[in-house]
Amino acid sequence: MTEKKTWSDRFETGLNPTIALFNASIGFDIELIEYDITGSVAHAKMLAHTGIISSEEGEILISGLEKVRQEYREGKLNPGVEDEDVHFAVEKRLTQLVGDVGKKLHTARSRNDQVGTDIRLYLRDQIQQIRSYLKEFQTALINHAQIHIETLIPGYTHLQRAQPLSLAHHLLAYFQMTQRDWERLGEIYERTNISPLGCGALAGTTFPIDRYFSAKELNFKDIYANSLDGVSDRDFAIEFTCAASLIMVHLSRLSEEMILWASQEFGFITLKDSCATGSSIMPQKKNPDVPELVRGKTGRVFGNLQALLTLMKGLPLAYNKDLQEDKEGIFDTVKTVKGCLEAMTILLNEGLEFRCDRLQNAVEEDYSNATDVADYLAGKGVPFREAYNLVGKVVKTCLAGGKLLKELTLEEWQNLHPAFENDIYEAITPQRVVSARNSAGGTGFDQVRQALKKAKELL
Ligand code: ARG
Repeated sequence: MTEKKTWSDRFETGLNPTIALFNASIGFDIELIEYDITGSVAHAKMLAHTGIISSEEGEILISGLEKVRQEYREGKLNPGVEDEDVHFAVEKRLTQLVGDVGKKLHTARSRNDQVGTDIRLYLRDQIQQIRSYLKEFQTALINHAQIHIETLIPGYTHLQRAQPLSLAHHLLAYFQMTQRDWERLGEIYERTNISPLGCGALAGTTFPIDRYFSAKELNFKDIYANSLDGVSDRDFAIEFTCAASLIMVHLSRLSEEMILWASQEFGFITLKDSCATGSSIMPQKKNPDVPELVRGKTGRVFGNLQALLTLMKGLPLAYNKDLQEDKEGIFDTVKTVKGCLEAMTILLNEGLEFRCDRLQNAVEEDYSNATDVADYLAGKGVPFREAYNLVGKVVKTCLAGGKLLKELTLEEWQNLHPAFENDIYEAITPQRVVSARNSAGGTGFDQVRQALKKAKELL
């Protein structure tokens, strides 16, 4: 069984139905319908403006297209496989509505420049939305940072206790990462904001079109300078998916930390009931599903990036049907990144609490002030490397005796080195250890206050 197809009289029979289904993109590119209509309206205006069609015809096309939009919004337009893709679906419905004039819409255009236009319009919107999701996430971070400037948290390297930190400093690290994400998306927006409309199938068109006119209608900043490049380029989509992957890297690292922090072993945060789930069998459990899902979903965004890169690498110029495969990865990336940013923002806003008591105990009970003992000696003129070796010995003795550094008597300190005085105790309190790291960008409270102020200005 074959069905009648839309292309031209060159074809004697229709497509095999299984092949028709295989070929169709309507199942997913329907997501682009509003952008397709907007692009077509601009194209119709340009056709009328240049006299390629009459202004009456232009008006009929535009109001017909808006009617199609209306029908879609009211749920009355439900294209199927027979329509192949969103571009054919819109054109077909337009022609049903306005008659033969509808058949003039595709003058001086190809689906190749059309789909390129649609996907750029779509991504432009999505990029701006994701940027505002990022700002909300950052606001949530800052709200915590604000109240935790002087809350201390162990800082780790190699996941070993290293030096204590201001909790705000730790959270502001994520602010900085996501600030770069936000900036990066802004740069990618600029490269997405170029119009391929009017590149035609690949070579331009014989009609006296005005590409700048339609670009301006669609608020594109410029037009593609080369028609082949215009219909073939998906760099912007790859860049977007790469930027999205980096957002996911950052969210996933925070997720990993939250999962650790929520464990009984760390106990640095408590998850609230609104953002945690239980186990079906172990009644005592409260699981950090949100950060776990974010960490898990990171993989699919990386996968989408890999898929897009691989999709493009062997394509000869210009359009190839392979390009139809770009869409699902792009849509999935957008949906995943937005979903994760939203969920993490909610988690920060209402789903967790830092356990200040546990955090304070944690920084009191380790050797993460050892560097400060060495710095203390270095401050008294002992060469740092010598001081470092000496403190290593002290820690070894303390470990053997089950003692913390603060538990050594002054006599014990002075036996180790005569430079130690009574102020050593004050110098190694966690609060002091943190506040003393007042170098630019460090965790010292003054630095953190300044960083917080700057961060707020960037919101
Ligand atoms: N559905 C197609 C896509 O997404 C539209 C472009 C079709 N162009 C073509 N020459 N067959 O890529």
